[in-house]
Amino acid sequence: MKAAVLNSFSAPLVIQDVPDPVLGTGEVIVDVAAAGVASYAANVFNGSRNYPLELPVVPGPGGVGRVRATGPDATKLKPGDWVFVDSTIRSRDNVANPEQILLGWTYRTPAALPLHRYYHHGSFAEQMLVPTENATPIGPIEAADAGRWTALARLLVPFGGLLAGNLQAGETLVVNGATGGFGGAGVAVALAMGAGRVVATGRNQGTLEDIARRFGQRVRTVRFTGDEAADRQSICEAAGGPIDMVLDFLPREASAAQVRSAVMAVKLGGRVILMGGLRGDEGNLGLNYNWLMHNETMVRGVWMYGKNAIPRMVQMVRAGLIDLAQFDLTEFGLDEANEAVAYAAANAGPRHLTVLRPDRAFENNR
Ligand SMILES: NC(=O)c1ccc[n+]([C@@H]2O[C@H](COP(=O)([O-])OP(=O)(O)OC[C@H]3O[C@@H](n4cnc5c(N)ncnc54)[C@H](OP(=O)(O)O)[C@@H]3O)[C@@H](O)[C@H]2O)c1
Repeated sequence: MKAAVLNSFSAPLVIQDVPDPVLGTGEVIVDVAAAGVASYAANVFNGSRNYPLELPVVPGPGGVGRVRATGPDATKLKPGDWVFVDSTIRSRDNVANPEQILLGWTYRTPAALPLHRYYHHGSFAEQMLVPTENATPIGPIEAADAGRWTALARLLVPFGGLLAGNLQAGETLVVNGATGGFGGAGVAVALAMGAGRVVATGRNQGTLEDIARRFGQRVRTVRFTGDEAADRQSICEAAGGPIDMVLDFLPREASAAQVRSAVMAVKLGGRVILMGGLRGDEGNLGLNYNWLMHNETMVRGVWMYGKNAIPRMVQMVRAGLIDLAQFDLTEFGLDEANEAVAYAAANAGPRHLTVLRPDRAFENNR
């Protein structure tokens, strides 16, 4: 089969023939129709993100495709079914405290290496091999819409945080870093879950205005000034009442003060979900012990999402609560994988999806 291969952190992807995956029990092979390309893929591939990742690898964390073959233990999935392939693979030999990897992307700790070496190759290929439980049926779709369905990967990440924080209908939520890819998706998901008000923060005024225009009255925007106290004041004013929950998606370049400006706006007994990548101030948030205790704040880090979130998100899309048409889509053929990576880096943001289509040739199509 054809695949885009990362052989070295100092060279582009090479489009080449690689052996087809070989099916085992407990696994499925998926014909990849569409694979999302993250805005920071270039930084993973050039090594500057320092993601633990053994080479060579066919990168690509999941995607959308059709089941090609199932193992003998599959009870429902059938060849031809459209599925969303979840990239989060958890070890099966310690369910109480599993190791975790992102297929074709990274592994978390050295203990996860056997998992990373076995489920190694990702979705920048015509086929991929995944554990059966990582292929979730999405129901019939038009092949032309497969790229749009990769938005599930974007939406599921904040959904995982909002479920972990137990967001309730009518509550007030702050999405810190709402002008980014995952933060922006967090606004859409929170509204679909019934949030009464969502305060969306960011620095980019144009993107904030776009968010306000798209999502209407339940959303208020706050532009960061960089002054922690002033930004917190603006967040509280925009909330117009007690803030039940904060979902932080600020990236590694942000400062602890930016995170605290939202976190410390939370009401007595409120919940804080940290999903971003803060590296500034060595990742130390500097939250005061007495503030946490007296404010009865619950702070929780969340990585990705549980398996149950996936069929629920599919239902939210099918029910019309989430509109996949909100995303602008740009698709590339597998031969154009390097162009897709560069395009994704130049077009980050809450609305944009860059997608590889290993199922199609794209000569002069764009
Ligand atoms: N926990 C998880 O499971 C999980 C999963 C995926 C990703 N993540 C993490 O989530 C974070 C966000 O990812 P993303 O893909 O949404 O990133 P992104 O699209 O680059 O968005 C980040 C946004 O942060 C804003 N920002 C605020 N302060 C900034 C600063 N000082 N420097 C640069 N940008 C700043 C930028 O918007 P403005 O310019 O408007 O401020 C930018 O759009 C990353 O750290 C990523 O690693 C976590």
